Amino acid sequence: MSIIAKGLDGVVVDNTSISEVTSETSSLIYRGYRAPELADKCTFEEVAYLLWNGDLPTRAQLDQFTSTARPHRVLDPSLMHALQDIPKQAHPMDIVRTGVSWLGMEEEDSLHMDLDRTRLAALKMLAKIPTIIAVGYRVKKGLSIIPPRQDLRFTENFFNMCFGKVPEPEVLKAFEVSMVLYAEHSFNASTFTARVVTSTMADIYSAVTAGICSLKGPLHGGANEEVMHMLKEIGQPSRARQWVLDALAQKRKIMGFGHRVYKKQDSRAPTMDRYGKALARKLGDTRWHDIADIVEKTMIETKNIYPNLDFPTGPAYYLMGFDIDFFTPLFVMARITGWSAHVIEQTQNNRLIRPLSEYTGPAEREVKPIEQR
Ligand code: COA
Repeated sequence: MSIIAKGLDGVVVDNTSISEVTSETSSLIYRGYRAPELADKCTFEEVAYLLWNGDLPTRAQLDQFTSTARPHRVLDPSLMHALQDIPKQAHPMDIVRTGVSWLGMEEEDSLHMDLDRTRLAALKMLAKIPTIIAVGYRVKKGLSIIPPRQDLRFTENFFNMCFGKVPEPEVLKAFEVSMVLYAEHSFNASTFTARVVTSTMADIYSAVTAGICSLKGPLHGGANEEVMHMLKEIGQPSRARQWVLDALAQKRKIMGFGHRVYKKQDSRAPTMDRYGKALARKLGDTRWHDIADIVEKTMIETKNIYPNLDFPTGPAYYLMGFDIDFFTPLFVMARITGWSAHVIEQTQNNRLIRPLSEYTGPAEREVKPIEQR
């Protein structure tokens, strides 16, 4: 009998120089920099550059990076057409998954992409995924499509494509912070999925498509949507404590709480909470954060389980005006940076990922002809 690490709990499967999650100190660093500090001081594009190149850009490097990325915001007419024809009931994560898969089909000989082409593909996805999401958003709401603009920054352009205007600085900053904090998180389920696909020498589009599938689930990225459904179900602060106690008594999981690696605080959650609350005050609507504070207090008091990043992003995205089922696609927009960095790292030092399993089925037996079974 071998020892089974269910859920790969505690198993170290490879080295990485991209990020480090430390449970004891509740910390997260990207290439040596503390993620909350990056969120305070940097734009998402600077952090994308950092994750892909190993260091923060100079002004000239950033200008070069953004001017190369921005023209890729435009989608090919064939993809635009496909996105306008999506089934009405499609979940936005399925729209993004299909969009990224489509981008893979636009590549010549996608099975033989060298590192330069892989890096360019990552840049294209960084630029195009927001357009895919915004087009999906407008189409689902029956609104006319707003094309991307090259004169706007990453976050400004995204809001403009979704809502037809660039919001106030507090909204943009809270969104940018969420992008920076969602960008990378070591060997989480979707990143590991992307690395497994890459380890077979499949292309980056296949790896990212698989990563999106993995992120969709409520135990991973889908939790930010569940958080907002929960806050809406609770409805008002006076009901929050009892709601949590009742849910726990029924052995229900409270979404946005707990983490496989962090046993106390998720290093990212307090930073997002701070910016989310500033946004709520600015918009004059603190109800969701008031409920969230009571849910958090009750969870810590009764279970000693802390919120993860999906807890504060849920109400923040809601206040920004996004429909709940678009929350996880926003996570994709950010995590494309981390996934791509891992795809490149895996490619540069690859070995097929192929674990073992302990067989528990019937012992070896003979196949009888169908008449004798
Ligand atoms: N609500 C209530 N109880 C929780 C909980 C939550 N969100 N997260 C963990 N627990 C409890 C479990 O019930 C279990 O208790 P038990 O030992 O009495 O059975 C214990 O804590 C360990 O949980 P487990 O699910 O085995 O931990 P894990 O490491 O496998 O799972 C998560 C980690 C993230 C999947 C889990 O915490 C979870 O489901 N959280 C909610 C979904 C979520 O927010 N996901 C986003 C993650 S960033």
